[in-house]
Amino acid sequence: MTEKMQNQPMQPSQPWMASVLTLFPDMFPGPLAQSLAGKALAAGLWSLHVTDIRPFGVGVHNKVDDPPFGGGPGMVMRPDVMAAALASASDGLPKDMAKIYLSPRGKRLDQPLVKELAAGPGVLLVCGRYEGLDQRVIDAAGLTEISIGDYVLSGGEMAAQVLIDAVVRLLDGVMGNPMAHQQDSFENGLLEHPLYTHPRDWGGNVVPEILLSGDHGRIAKWRQEAAMALTQKRRPDLWEEWLKSEAKEDQSKGKKLTK
Ligand code: ADE
Repeated sequence: MTEKMQNQPMQPSQPWMASVLTLFPDMFPGPLAQSLAGKALAAGLWSLHVTDIRPFGVGVHNKVDDPPFGGGPGMVMRPDVMAAALASASDGLPKDMAKIYLSPRGKRLDQPLVKELAAGPGVLLVCGRYEGLDQRVIDAAGLTEISIGDYVLSGGEMAAQVLIDAVVRLLDGVMGNPMAHQQDSFENGLLEHPLYTHPRDWGGNVVPEILLSGDHGRIAKWRQEAAMALTQKRRPDLWEEWLKSEAKEDQSKGKKLTK
């Protein structure tokens, strides 16, 4: 445990928990054992439970999948097998734990959703392989499908790790400086402004003068404007949303719009 973590306030009796169902248990904790998430895991600031789906398979070979009814390529993970694995993994978990199936068909993971998950007791994460899960077990278990982006991975494990990492860094006591979140991209609806450190002059590339001025008001204004310019250029979708939310805020303050 680092000194910083020892100085953190007391945690609630049960730390935030990730319970993962996977055919590849050796993929966990994987990268989550390193750096910030790994230190927090070792310090008991969150916990990880991994359930191997294979032993719940049927027959002598513990079969977990079968071809899709109606034909088509690949294999589908059987509902009976998944239901048995889910029942075992869910035993003793808080009732209000989010039950998630990582899938490219799901709602896109974003920072507001990450924050929502961080505020709860934890997540049950079902990692699919092959073509995915039989629809009946998704419905029966009330799994929410979540995607980490518009591309297809070979399984849900890495997506689960992305989700866990994004949540864990928001948990109390995990980041040395909790104020650091406030500067994150997406925190205020904008991408983060550019960052600079030593040396001041790197092969003729110099740090913007204003950042050396010590004038916190001007620096904050520069950063806000840089964040706005970056967001407008790179993410017109986010920019439109930000403009709308700013307009709403201005309206609710009863101010005349100036943008
Ligand atoms: N499994 C396969 N592709 C995925 C994605 N994009 N997001 C979440 N889970 C997935």
